[in-house]
Amino acid sequence: MGNLILSGNVFLAPLAGITDAPFRILAKRFGADLVYTEMVSAEGLCRGNTDTLRLLYFGEEERPIGVQIFGSHPDNMAEACRVIDKLKPDLIDINFGCPVKKVVQRNGGAALLKDLKLLEKIVSAVTRSTKTPVTVKTRSGWDQKNIVALEVAKIAQGCGASAITVHPRTQKDDYSVKADWDLIARVKKEVNIPVFGSGDIFTPPDAKNMLDLTGCDAVMIGRGALGNPWIFSQIDHFLESGSQLPEPSLEERIRICLEHAGLSVKEKGEYVGLRTMRKHMAWYTMRMPRSKELRQKVFTLETLEDVRCAFEDYLLLQKNICETV
Ligand SMILES: Cc1cc2nc3c(=O)[nH]c(=O)nc-3n(C[C@H](O)[C@H](O)[C@H](O)COP(=O)(O)O)c2cc1C
Repeated sequence: MGNLILSGNVFLAPLAGITDAPFRILAKRFGADLVYTEMVSAEGLCRGNTDTLRLLYFGEEERPIGVQIFGSHPDNMAEACRVIDKLKPDLIDINFGCPVKKVVQRNGGAALLKDLKLLEKIVSAVTRSTKTPVTVKTRSGWDQKNIVALEVAKIAQGCGASAITVHPRTQKDDYSVKADWDLIARVKKEVNIPVFGSGDIFTPPDAKNMLDLTGCDAVMIGRGALGNPWIFSQIDHFLESGSQLPEPSLEERIRICLEHAGLSVKEKGEYVGLRTMRKHMAWYTMRMPRSKELRQKVFTLETLEDVRCAFEDYLLLQKNICETV
């Protein structure tokens, strides 16, 4: 994409409230070939809102990284790119997928799938405002009667975007509706720019299936990486060798969870860092035996050291139980 050459084709999807710097660093350590920030409001950037600006920051360790923006005014989107460009991200991604009420009510995210003329103006304003490669991420359409991903991909290509990601669900679909991978395949046939697929990849074979069945150039992992950041190395291994790595041991999962907590505390301080970690700790421990009590305990702890001790006690208890059984 532009001058950007990636080491592979397995990416971490942008996830609002989740893909902060600590999570992105962890995903990179496990081999994610590209990571994205959480979506950032163009309007917030134009106003110089400090909370919005904070979402933009990333370290060198996270490269290559895409900053994702959303908004509904072409001029603001272009202005936001000028702010973003100062940080020299590897790409800027435009969000045409967010289904959340607060965003679509202001005509951002997936709402733009109902107004392709405005969507085109936005992509064109953004590509003209920056030399950084611009990519577009879209849902299928507003609803099942209005599937517009093909049109969006052609508009993106026509306006000079470097790639398009398709998350093949509509704004109206929730996650109980299966992602329509056929639509990714149809988009891939219609455009020459790289096409990335997003939706329902939870295992290494899922990733291979999406690549094989749709012909897409790269896959994005979203929910499948929650409490499971090692999925990137598992997918890489499977794509290279055709065999599956074993699941990490209980000790290893706890070590990774604590590494994540350490990054979170380093980035945000102990108070915010540990509160941000609560949802991640819930995901990490979900598949651990007899973990309800552990969760109840760690959610009340105020220091990283106490969290570390709680996990160590839990591990010791599990070992004792295994030995007695
Ligand atoms: C909690 C959550 C937050 C998300 N935030 C974003 C976002 O900020 N930008 C975006 O383009 N997509 C966002 N998505 C959509 C994902 O990037 C992805 O396209 C979708 O979840 C399908 O992939 P998956 O089945 O691998 O999760 C979000 C999804 C979830 C579940």
